[in-house]
Amino acid sequence: MLKTLAVANYRSINKLVIPLGRLNLITGPNGSGKSNLYRALRLLAETAQGGVVNALAREGGLDSTFWTGPENNSRRMRNGEVPIEATVRHGAKRLRLGFAGEDFSYSIALGLPEPTQSYFSLDPEIKKECIWSGPFYRPASLLVDRNGPIIRARVGRAWEVLAQHTPNFDSLFDQVGSFRTSLEVLQRREFIRRWRFYDHFRSDADAPVRQPPGSPATTGYSHARVAPRWSRPGGSVADDSRDWRSRCLADCDQ
Ligand SMILES: Nc1ncnc2c1ncn2[C@@H]1O[C@H](COP(=O)(O)OP(=O)(O)O)[C@@H](O)[C@H]1O
Ligand SMILES: [Mg+2]
Repeated sequence: MLKTLAVANYRSINKLVIPLGRLNLITGPNGSGKSNLYRALRLLAETAQGGVVNALAREGGLDSTFWTGPENNSRRMRNGEVPIEATVRHGAKRLRLGFAGEDFSYSIALGLPEPTQSYFSLDPEIKKECIWSGPFYRPASLLVDRNGPIIRARVGRAWEVLAQHTPNFDSLFDQVGSFRTSLEVLQRREFIRRWRFYDHFRSDADAPVRQPPGSPATTGYSHARVAPRWSRPGGSVADDSRDWRSRCLADCDQ
């Protein structure tokens, strides 16, 4: 089970570490960042599917996903005494994502490459990845450490280099097949791959949203007659939905 989720420098999230329970409900007004948190979790899942860099490209590129506010929120900003505005950034710009679980934890940091003449110079790079045992990071609990192209794993008291030329768009989970001591990484990858995201409403013919509420007698209808609310011409949505329901009920009486 996930115990903590951490996100830094992603859209409206400057730095966030949230403890998780068995069931977590995120609420807040529009624009408060609920979807951004959800998207961050999805991005984290993409690392184990080999698609984090692609997913960032689909979002408009890493640069557009960086938090645009100041590096640190001062007390006066938090109190609303001064506006939250971007300031000159001192550290390297990194999107950081991570989670802590009971058995192991994982974190990834992505950044932009050194400026070049390439047309793809805005493609993000994976700068750092770590897997450590248990929920709390200590240098002694580090199991696998990726620094740029180099991936090392702890073997007893020593470190063994697993890969030296990892492509900067590949997560260490993508490389797992080529490691000699890959069992631990493999297990961690499978754990993340089991995450599921149910964030789309069903819209197929049998979807609950197409069934009139409270009417059990819909199974004999032609699906063409149970039209989605938004496809009916004229009338407001509310009128349309009433019309649609009464039509279904009228059909039912025939
Ligand atoms: N790169 C960014 N830096 C700072 N804020 C951002 C960035 N991208 C989006 N936002 C802010 O995120 C907010 C939208 O968050 P969102 O997760 O969609 O809200 P919710 O789902 O709670 O309605 C908007 O206020 C938008 O200005
Ligand atoms: Mg939203």
